[in-house]
Amino acid sequence: MRAAVQPEALPSPRAHVEASIHASAPAGARRSPTALAGEIPAIVMLALAGCHRGHDQSALHPASAEAASIATLWWVMFGVLAVAFVIVIALALFAISRRAQSRTAPGGSARFVVVSGIVVPSIILVGLLVYSLHTSQQLRRPAEGRVIQVTGFQWWWEVRYPDLGIITANEIHLPAGEPVRLELRAKDVVHSFWVPNLHGKIDLLPETVNTIRIRADEPGTWRGICAEFCGRQHALMGLRVVALTPPDFDRWAEERRPPARPTPTTEIRRGEEVFFESSCHVCHAVRGTRAVGRIGPDLTHLASRLTLGAGAVENNRERLAAWVLDPHAIKPGNLMPRTPLSPDDLEALLDYLQTLR
Ligand code: CUA
Repeated sequence: MRAAVQPEALPSPRAHVEASIHASAPAGARRSPTALAGEIPAIVMLALAGCHRGHDQSALHPASAEAASIATLWWVMFGVLAVAFVIVIALALFAISRRAQSRTAPGGSARFVVVSGIVVPSIILVGLLVYSLHTSQQLRRPAEGRVIQVTGFQWWWEVRYPDLGIITANEIHLPAGEPVRLELRAKDVVHSFWVPNLHGKIDLLPETVNTIRIRADEPGTWRGICAEFCGRQHALMGLRVVALTPPDFDRWAEERRPPARPTPTTEIRRGEEVFFESSCHVCHAVRGTRAVGRIGPDLTHLASRLTLGAGAVENNRERLAAWVLDPHAIKPGNLMPRTPLSPDDLEALLDYLQTLR
């Protein structure tokens, strides 16, 4: 049963708007002002298309002190520059109207030009520069707290908790209200870690470990992305950050500490055999078994993850089947090969994989 599953169709307001514009304007036809006015909602929708993501991936909805200082910097810059913009436009309109009335070239005072054209903009720009340097200095404070190691691969994230012995992928669980020290590095090419609700961007480099401190104010789930072009599937290199209350975090860690569960039923045991017969263990690890591959994500807790393929699709049985059979239909160019399986073997393998919580 090879399900021809495609990646989840993203809502595309843009496509809708383009369709509506084309539908209302036959080629070469001149459009009346009324028709143009009718398209204003569509144009507004197009402008707002970037906002449909919601608040879980937004630098303007900070959920940590670090993100809050970045958001404040953004709002200060926006406010100052908006006022400057309004003043400049007002002066320009004033000058145009004066010129239209007098019909002679306006004679300006040199002092006014120097003050408003050089002195004032310089003060504003230097002030904003100093403020932004101060903010980035604050963000570079020594990172303390529980260590979580994040490694960027083409195109997924490995997440390790050295003190807990937990290895997982594409999801970072952390206790809300407690500082966490993220140690970031790359396995292959340069990536960039960006969870806008929690912190600014930080590069992951193959040779160096970069660290940042994050402390989520409250429990919540946020989306992150790779913010540095890193190859064909850069756009599908997403992650989730889940902040839990400290007791929930301890429970989460406790549940993930033991190795993979034993395989009780015949189907599940058959699924485990299929896993090894299909050479899944060459690339993937399942703690507690002889699967110790390090090329792909650790699968010890696969079934408890929210997504497959680093945020490419939701993690459910149907998507997992599609991913195993043909991961390139979902995420072209990724390193995992296609795995042709008979329907019975596939079902057994899915049964096994779904025990890996
Ligand atoms: Cu990793 Cu872009």
